[in-house]
Amino acid sequence: MSERLTKSAARNIFYGGSAFFFLLFVGLTAHSHYYVVTESSPSETVTESVARGKHVWEENSCINCHSIMGEGAYFAPELANVWTRYGGRDDAEGARMAIIAWMQSQPSGIEGRRQMPNFNLSDQELNDLVDFLRFTDGIDDQNWPPNDAG
Ligand code: HEC
Repeated sequence: MSERLTKSAARNIFYGGSAFFFLLFVGLTAHSHYYVVTESSPSETVTESVARGKHVWEENSCINCHSIMGEGAYFAPELANVWTRYGGRDDAEGARMAIIAWMQSQPSGIEGRRQMPNFNLSDQELNDLVDFLRFTDGIDDQNWPPNDAG
């Protein structure tokens, strides 16, 4: 056996390695595509009200106190699962009314409890916000937050 790497051996390593990693890349691309289509896409569709609700969320800087899917401030509860927390999966109308009533009744004024300001949002804005929170709840965020309380 020759001790030096021959030209043909080097060529075979080059072509073989290129083919191997090319096939690996194709395989991983196919797997990512399959995962996006079957698992990681939200179960709800982005409707116009979801998009408007996201704007309400941004314009009022809710993220300055809350986190959503782990992003944001840790002063107030995580809201990616607030729809589930309010029972929206079993009783959608009840959860919608409860979240809206909560927003309208702030600040609670309860001493020793963190306060949320009242944003004086219109009925339309409140409903859009709820649609946005509902949509977010439907995204597969790999079970974040780890507990129901957020
Ligand atoms: C100044 C900080 C602050 C901002 C800004 C803020 N919140 Fe809150 N929010 C709180 C606090 C504090 C609580 C918890 C209060 C309590 O439990 O009494 C809360 C609670 C909530 C809850 C109920 C959560 C639960 O699990 O019961 C919802 C829904 C909510 N906020 C939505 C919003 C939305 C939507 C916005 C933006 C329009 C927003 N918040 C902006 C501080 C804030």
